[in-house]
Amino acid sequence: MTLRGFRPTDVPFIPAIVADALREHYDPSLYQSLSTEWPDGFLVAADPYEVPVGFLLGVNQVEREARILMFAVDRNHRRMGVGTLLMSAFLDRCRARAYRRTTLEVRVSNATAIRFYARFQYSVIDLLRSYYSDGENGYQMARDVG
Ligand code: ACO
Repeated sequence: MTLRGFRPTDVPFIPAIVADALREHYDPSLYQSLSTEWPDGFLVAADPYEVPVGFLLGVNQVEREARILMFAVDRNHRRMGVGTLLMSAFLDRCRARAYRRTTLEVRVSNATAIRFYARFQYSVIDLLRSYYSDGENGYQMARDVG
């Protein structure tokens, strides 16, 4: 498994992971445009054939803060430490930029991800009512970069 930045050839693999893991469908051009703002904030874990098996897409919208927009690992590669690798590297990159805090939103029903984030010292800071397009509530979670 290697960690690297996003490449245009990662489309369509990343949209396929997003469709399955996050049940969202975005225009493929979104990934390219988001990667240009903060290239180091878009991390891809790839298999030996360079096929992405997971990714974490962070953006910088608020001064000295990183927001994780999307984070997912292909279902056949979960519970092998790929998510941990991505999150640890992401936090290192936040430190390198002297970011103060990192935030994210997660479905209240997503117990697996909430437990994962809690293990990384994220805590719930807000309840976002009807945050998702299907009406589900979200939690906003955050942690100091430290
Ligand atoms: N054997 C057994 N268990 C292991 C091993 C191993 N070799 N390696 C890690 N684990 C355990 C970890 O301890 C961890 O336990 P936890 O559930 O108590 O935290 C668990 O497996 C997962 O750790 P990783 O393997 O590092 O993480 P993974 O690669 O499975 O990715 C993720 C975690 C991204 C949350 C994954 O479950 C996923 O893609 N879920 C679906 C998409 C999703 O919900 N994404 C987040 C939405 S919110 C947002 O996008 C902002």
